[in-house]
Amino acid sequence: MTDVFGLPHKDSGPVGTTGSTQPRHEQVVFCSDERSGLYAIIAIYSTALGPGLGGTRFYPYESEQAALADVLNLSRAMAYKNALAGLDLGGAKAVIIGDPETDKSEALLRAYGRFVQSLGGRYYTACDVGTYSEDMDVIARECAYVTGRSPEYGGAGDSSILTAFGVFQGMRAAVRHRYGTTSLAGKRVGIEGVGKVGARLVDHLIEEGAEVVICDVNEQAIDRVRRRHPAVEVVGDAAELITADLDIYAPCALGGSLNDETAPRLRAKIVCGAANNQLAHPGVEKQLAERGILYAPDYVVNAGGVIQVADEIHGFDMARARAKASKIFDTTLRIFELAAEEGVPPGVAADRLAERRMSEVGRLRGIWLRS
Ligand SMILES: NC(=O)c1ccc[n+]([C@@H]2O[C@H](COP(=O)([O-])OP(=O)(O)OC[C@H]3O[C@@H](n4cnc5c(N)ncnc54)[C@H](O)[C@@H]3O)[C@@H](O)[C@H]2O)c1
Repeated sequence: MTDVFGLPHKDSGPVGTTGSTQPRHEQVVFCSDERSGLYAIIAIYSTALGPGLGGTRFYPYESEQAALADVLNLSRAMAYKNALAGLDLGGAKAVIIGDPETDKSEALLRAYGRFVQSLGGRYYTACDVGTYSEDMDVIARECAYVTGRSPEYGGAGDSSILTAFGVFQGMRAAVRHRYGTTSLAGKRVGIEGVGKVGARLVDHLIEEGAEVVICDVNEQAIDRVRRRHPAVEVVGDAAELITADLDIYAPCALGGSLNDETAPRLRAKIVCGAANNQLAHPGVEKQLAERGILYAPDYVVNAGGVIQVADEIHGFDMARARAKASKIFDTTLRIFELAAEEGVPPGVAADRLAERRMSEVGRLRGIWLRS
């Protein structure tokens, strides 16, 4: 099962189902409109911190069960991510079952928008796999609770801008924790995948004086980076990057790049990248820790994108969103410190911190105020 936003560690089984030890989801809504072909599931995990925000994934799931499992996991992951991003937003997510290439239509998206609207603001949607800003603009014709819109409609535009910036902040925190300095000058950073986020990350690193090594399966993506930064080194593939002489390894392609085979071969001392679910399973983090490798939890350092789109709710302001994304530095550092204090891996410390905020700040909502 893929997971764009990255799953918290405790999620080793199905969530929100009978018999699970996990808290249940607040609300799960099945939405069907036969005439447009819409079949969607919206899952709201928690609104303890505010309305649930999470993207709409348009994907040809093999079964309704697979779609349900995905949306339950993804919505829970969003609650953790939004909590640690310091947002006053809960966690939610939606899936539309179908092939976006053939099944997407104005009627379907607008029908979906009406269902989102029916939740009265408990759920804010955004882009995810298979949905784009233009789709959000269509959904918004029926619904007030839409982010990730195109800039012509006041949207935040390409979320990879602050995703890359946030990963860079996470890297600075990791270097500070490990070496006592926040400067990346002279550090050798390997980036796997120089697409939207990876390429912007190269810009930040070069500006900071780091040495950058990249790989990508797409030659054009490599060429684009080399044209901007001729000094960037290129290696053949991800396997070569893993064993390269690096200080920092930044997975920015697909999930699962660190697994039982690759983790023992990694030579870098820090892992910090944008990809979701970088660790094939939670045990990989233990393997990294045993080898003295510091892992910056993916869902913490890649939260810049959600911070960027969430800002649209208040009328998008890049300077404000960027200021908020810069706090990823402090959060990441705090997670490393908590992990050291409590003797747990950073991923576990991150989950604990998110749960603490949801419980402590969410509790305040129980104190009634006239609205
Ligand atoms: N864009 C965002 O705002 C955002 C936010 C949070 C998380 N993420 C995650 O960050 C990662 C990158 O996102 P993106 O928006 O840059 O995606 P993208 O599709 O623009 O870039 C991914 C790049 O990885 C390359 N790639 C794929 N397989 C590879 C492999 N085996 N080895 C090397 N390179 C490979 C692709 O060719 C592409 O250039 C994804 O995992 C995404 O889920 C992105």
